[in-house]
Amino acid sequence: MSNIKIQRAKNSKINSVDWNNLRFGIFFSDHIFISDYKNGKWDEGRIEPYNAMSIEPAMCTLHYGQTIFEGMKGFRSVKGGANIFRPDMNAKRLNNSAKAVCIPEFDENLLLEGLKELVKLEYDWIPKEKGQSLYIRPVVFGSGNFLGVTASTEYKLIILLSPVASYYAEGLKPVKIMVSKDYVRAVTGGIGNAKTAANYAASLKAGMEAHKNGFSQVLWLDGVTRKYVDEVGAMNIMFVIDDELITPSLDRGSILPGITRLSVLHLAKDWGMKVSEREITIDEVADAYDKGKLQEVFGTGTAAVISPVGFLKYGDKEMTVNNNQIGPIAQKFYDTITGIQYGEIEDKFGWIMHIEV
Ligand SMILES: Cc1ncc(COP(=O)(O)O)c(C=O)c1O
Repeated sequence: MSNIKIQRAKNSKINSVDWNNLRFGIFFSDHIFISDYKNGKWDEGRIEPYNAMSIEPAMCTLHYGQTIFEGMKGFRSVKGGANIFRPDMNAKRLNNSAKAVCIPEFDENLLLEGLKELVKLEYDWIPKEKGQSLYIRPVVFGSGNFLGVTASTEYKLIILLSPVASYYAEGLKPVKIMVSKDYVRAVTGGIGNAKTAANYAASLKAGMEAHKNGFSQVLWLDGVTRKYVDEVGAMNIMFVIDDELITPSLDRGSILPGITRLSVLHLAKDWGMKVSEREITIDEVADAYDKGKLQEVFGTGTAAVISPVGFLKYGDKEMTVNNNQIGPIAQKFYDTITGIQYGEIEDKFGWIMHIEV
């Protein structure tokens, strides 16, 4: 039994949800989990109605961006109850992001407990169709009111929930990606490996230009030499070259350590695939393409799980990957991970936090 106090909403908004047109991040459930940091410590947290919050114009995060967040998903298990995919890893990553921008760390167990109670309370908000899910967004921000570039002494941690549509309404679909030559997202020594607002603000302009040119996302190169592949806008990137699964290593510190990336690497090793986490230049990718050795390219991330890349453009170099079709390797990762998430495939690695309702 949890000790988390619950203040219930007077009216539910659930009847206003358009379940056939959920899209992403449009609808929010009735309650949030919230914890405050004051006088040097986090409180035990509580669940309360999702309401507008009042903030002062001097609220420091508006000015200096001291804020971090996470993104994970909950699913209706085919066996009943809810399945949350690897929330312990998200809690850990949130604390790593906290360290990067001087936000005080919090108790990961308390975060998971709050999440569990919130999802239990909001179980009806988990969409029923296969492919749909409940997106879980923890966010932490400095809530002090002052001007001056210094860390806040007060913070809020909030978990909000949003029922979201299937990323692929008509099955896995390859995307077009543009390699960014003009802009960089992060550099070694910076905060690219933290899930903090600044990295996303830095990506908007390049993303908008890519959209205008018909591309769905940007592939970032390292910010120093602009030769090495880092990651995509909201995904890590993987290449299959000569039957070897290759993904950029995290050593440069400019890549977000994706939890889907980690899961794909784990599965690949379990299946006996040749796997390499190493630096890879965009020229090596283009060279493999010219030699007919670039078999598959795909992104990994919570939103889409696996996103096959059908077309990659780097300056004048255009690469159509696997005839713009979903490759068998991408498909197998997608089927396995989504199977585990919905409780159809045995969770042999202990990745699911199951919530009985
Ligand atoms: C910049 C960036 N890289 C990679 C990822 C993929 O991470 P994950 O697999 O944990 O969703 C995300 C999404 O969270 C992201 O925003």
